[in-house]
Amino acid sequence: MCGIIGTTGAPDTCALLVAGLELLEYRGYDSAGVAICDRATGGLWRARAAEHAGSIGRLRTLLADAPRDPGASIGHTRWATHGRPTEENAHPHLDCTGRIALVHNGIIGNYRPLAAGLDARGHKRSSQTDTEVLVHLVEEEVASGADLAQAVRRCLAVVRGDFAIAVVRAEEPDVIVAARRTSPLIVGITASAGIVASDVAAALATTRELYALGEDEVATVRPGGLEVVDLTGRPVEPRRIEVSWSVQRAMKGGYPDFMSKEIHEQPQAVRDTLLGRLDGSGCTELDELEIGERELAGIERVQFLACGSSFHAALAARQAVEHWARVGADAEVASEFRYREPVLAHRTLAVAVSQSGETVDTLHAMREARRAGARVVAVTNVVDSVMAREADGVLYTRAGPEIGVASTKSHIAQLALLQALALHLGRVRGSLPAGELERASAAMSTLHLAVADAVGRGEEYCRVAERFAHVEDFYFLGRRAGLPVALEGALKLKELAYVRAEAYPAGEMKHGPISLIEPGVVVVVVATRTALWEKVMANVEEMRARGATVVAVADDGDEETAELVDAVLAVPHVEEVCSPVVNVVPLQFLAYTLARARGNDVDRPRNLAKVVTVE
Ligand code: M6R
Repeated sequence: MCGIIGTTGAPDTCALLVAGLELLEYRGYDSAGVAICDRATGGLWRARAAEHAGSIGRLRTLLADAPRDPGASIGHTRWATHGRPTEENAHPHLDCTGRIALVHNGIIGNYRPLAAGLDARGHKRSSQTDTEVLVHLVEEEVASGADLAQAVRRCLAVVRGDFAIAVVRAEEPDVIVAARRTSPLIVGITASAGIVASDVAAALATTRELYALGEDEVATVRPGGLEVVDLTGRPVEPRRIEVSWSVQRAMKGGYPDFMSKEIHEQPQAVRDTLLGRLDGSGCTELDELEIGERELAGIERVQFLACGSSFHAALAARQAVEHWARVGADAEVASEFRYREPVLAHRTLAVAVSQSGETVDTLHAMREARRAGARVVAVTNVVDSVMAREADGVLYTRAGPEIGVASTKSHIAQLALLQALALHLGRVRGSLPAGELERASAAMSTLHLAVADAVGRGEEYCRVAERFAHVEDFYFLGRRAGLPVALEGALKLKELAYVRAEAYPAGEMKHGPISLIEPGVVVVVVATRTALWEKVMANVEEMRARGATVVAVADDGDEETAELVDAVLAVPHVEEVCSPVVNVVPLQFLAYTLARARGNDVDRPRNLAKVVTVE
């Protein structure tokens, strides 16, 4: 949940650290800090700031006093888990001598007994974090004669939990030692420098020669040199990462914030994601699945696993799979699936859906599904992410890096890709009615145009949204393909505008929640033309009869719907199975507008982090 950067041998250490931290801020921004080996004094210099979204700005000021002759350096941006977001809990943490510094992303499961042992042996801990035990354990190994890399390996042998760490030591001023288990870490080198980072974007300013550290691997990074070993010290061949995008793509590109940039990139994300996987003539190609068509044809159940917006994409996918492939499908929140001792049907295909490919709940649910006998596919936006590496097959959304904490383009790309997967399953299983494959794949191959049409109406959506800028109570209703859209609309509003927003199946309101409907409540309903339109509109009448103001996501030109509601967010019509890709767009603008009207930071909403690598 935190971001790590480390640099050695590069000419402008402080600028690199700050730029890296800024790119990693999406992983958490409760505090930020750096530790720099000082060649002039032979010591270690540290600076930390805990000012929420202002931490990196403050750190930049503190860096004016940084060593003039810097050696190996590490930095960290934190999303608090153990210990409040204060300066004393900010990373890097130091050992008792102040000569070893360590940054960490993840959670040390057994930190309490480790801390008790350290306390008993006389160590002085100065934070409430789980992380700090690591640096004292390394200190003990160094004191017994180990070099930094040996010390880290020995220390990690007694640690349970998830971690990516980077460590520096005053006595070895060129060296960064990095290691990981579950949490991601990238290392890279040039002829004269070395880099460690939590993601590719933060490392790209230094080099494109990047390697993904594997589970329980320890890297020693020096200027121009890289050695990777396992926990026993055996050398490991580092795995090169192919980087297909530039750091420029991760910048705002003229938009006021990443969220609006990413909303506007959605047509491209859908187009790129479906490119080569579908054509208008009924061909579906999902070769990267690594699961042959014969095996896919024999699948008896599909189990989707995901969290947050990815879960909503999975809910939509469940319907697409049942519709086209006529095989039973479920979508479950990963954090629940993992702990309910799931019993999976024979020949289950488990599909883990995750923008980051790192969400720890989804990762563990995916592992659980595999243990229960399923074949496992990861659908992710991040090449070489942990899930991508562990799954039997992987399907990448091609949305490009998503920096805004709220999922937008990656969510829409997931919806499109999962629909393609459903159609592919339908083809290999022979479950599609004659002509349906050609018709559906033709419709999907122009889906990006409908998304472009919806995104192009952004200003219109914002104008409608402004009318409701100060409303505090929202309900989002939908049925069938409209329900995941309603859920996603409510999630966006909650996380960005900090407004109460509840999503419900429209037909379920009368079983209880309708008692909360009264004047002042705004009900947003997905009311595009489907076989259930009349039923949805009957539910709308029930809301209006109790005084609610109703805003409908409706087909462009649908006068009948417009007359029955108070405001319309008009979308181009696409067939129901594909409709979430288009219908969610106005709800993104709604949340964006309300968040901005309230002065909220749309890219970094409070209490959240882009990548949730803790349970
Ligand atoms: O990286 P993932 O797709 O696994 O992330 C899952 C959720 O944390 C994520 O979708 C979250 O709900 C977003 N902030 C929603 O906008």
